[in-house]
Order: sequence, then C-alpha cells, then structure tokens
Amino acid sequence: MMGWIILAVMLIAAVLGLVRSSYERDCLTTTEYTICSPKLSPEFEGKRIVFLTDLHNKSFGEENQRLLKAIDAASPDMVLIGGDTMVARGQEKCPLEVTLELVSALTEKYPVYYGFGNHELRLKTLPVYKETYRQFLRELRNAGVRILDDTGVTFHGEKGSLTISGLTLTRETYHHVVKKALERGYIEKRIGCVQENDVRILMAHNPLYQEEYAAWGADLTLCGHYHGGTIILPFLGGVMSPDYHLFPRVYRGRYETGEKTMILSGGLGTHSINIRFGNKPEVVLLVLKRD
Ligand SMILES: [Fe+2]
Repeated sequence: MMGWIILAVMLIAAVLGLVRSSYERDCLTTTEYTICSPKLSPEFEGKRIVFLTDLHNKSFGEENQRLLKAIDAASPDMVLIGGDTMVARGQEKCPLEVTLELVSALTEKYPVYYGFGNHELRLKTLPVYKETYRQFLRELRNAGVRILDDTGVTFHGEKGSLTISGLTLTRETYHHVVKKALERGYIEKRIGCVQENDVRILMAHNPLYQEEYAAWGADLTLCGHYHGGTIILPFLGGVMSPDYHLFPRVYRGRYETGEKTMILSGGLGTHSINIRFGNKPEVVLLVLKRD
C-alpha cells in the first residue's frame, strides 16, 4: 500500500512539474547587470547591450513579438547574439525561419553582432548542411548582421577602445564528460591578443572555459549553452549541463575570476529536454560603467 502511495505522489509531482515547466518556458524575463571597468573610455559610459543566446527556434508569440518587445523595453545600443539560435542536430533539416525573422526585425532598429554556438558550428562543419550554411551566411549578411566567427569589432574612444569578439570553439570542446584542455595559446591564435586600454567583451558559447577566457584577458565573457542547468533547485542550483555534469559549478548568473567577469545566460529556448523549472527564459541586459 505504501508503495502505491509513494508512486502516486511521485506521479502527481511529475505532472505538476511538467505543467509548471510548460508555463515557465513562455515566461520571458530580463536580467540587468552593471559592468564596471575603469578602463572604459567616457564615450562608452552607460552603453546598453542586450545579449541573447540559445533561442533554439523558440518563438515568444507570433514572429517573436514578445521577445522583440522585451528587447525594445531594454533600449539597447546594440544586440549581441551568443549562438544556438536554431537546432542543428546533424541528421535532419535545419529550419532557419525563426532565426532569420528575428535578426531581420532586430537589424531594422539595432546593430546586431552574431557569435556562434555549437549548433552554428554544426551548420558550418557538417557536409549535410553545406547549402543551408551558405544560405544562413547570405541571409545574415543581407540583413546587415555582423558575424563574429573568430573575429571581432573594435570601437575607438578618446581614452581607449571597446572590442567585441566572437570565439567559435571547436566541436571537441562540447559534449564531453571530461573537459578537453585548450591547447596553449588557443584563444590568441584564433582571435588575437588583448591590447592595453582595450575593454574586451568576448562571446564564447561554452562557459566551461571561464578561467581560460579570463587568463586571455576578456574583461567580460558572455556565455550560454547550459540552459541554466535545465532545472534550478533551491540551495542546490542548476541540475545538469549539456556535457553530462550534474550540478555544474556554474549554471546561470554572474561569476567572477579576479577582476574578470563572466555572465552565463540561462538562454531563451530548449531542445531535446524541453524542460525549464525555476529557470525562466532570459534576455540579458548589460549596462557599461566606468566605476
Ligand atoms: Fe549550445
């Protein structure tokens, strides 16, 4: 008898959890972070940057109208996209409609910079996506998006510059139980060195390499990929990361390494495990300050 009661309680809890998850997956939130750097040239004081990641074809309302409204409400000076806007599993077609619709709407109002996640990397590297990738690049460029695939863009100010770089990590750095070490000088080789008086914002999809990004010199690193750990439990934090770690050290929020900061977004969508619990979809707003 007791066994049946426990089973019934577990089933009810699972059903309630799924109902809550399906509600949460539609609840957009905006998280604001103030990013301070004494190196910041006065021209960049108060600049507002929206960071989006891991949309995975999710649409908040028709043509993502609710997401666009949330971005407008943040009044950004620019929008950064941190990758995984679509779902590219490698075996099937990869629809791009949601991605292209969103970037087209965004570029009408804001400068848009696009860094790659592991799904864009599959588009770029898997032969099955050769034509889709070409179309993807063509459409992004036509829309006026600046693609940051192992490259960056620098804004010059009177007392220093601000550089936004996109690092496209290799496939080996994703989905491994044991962390694969980056070879010596890996980031420098891909995107160069950090100059003095340059505030460096780095989009790097995988947060696993937080220390390596900081050691390279990123003042602010923007990551996603972990989807907030899928389920966030009180006191315990995010439950799992896509590289099969239970209760990862980082899952969502602000993390510091010395004077370097990493913002790990909970992301916007889901795929494969379509669950969000205690972990609402997130638009990240960054406000730059000198002190
Ligand atoms: Fe990802």
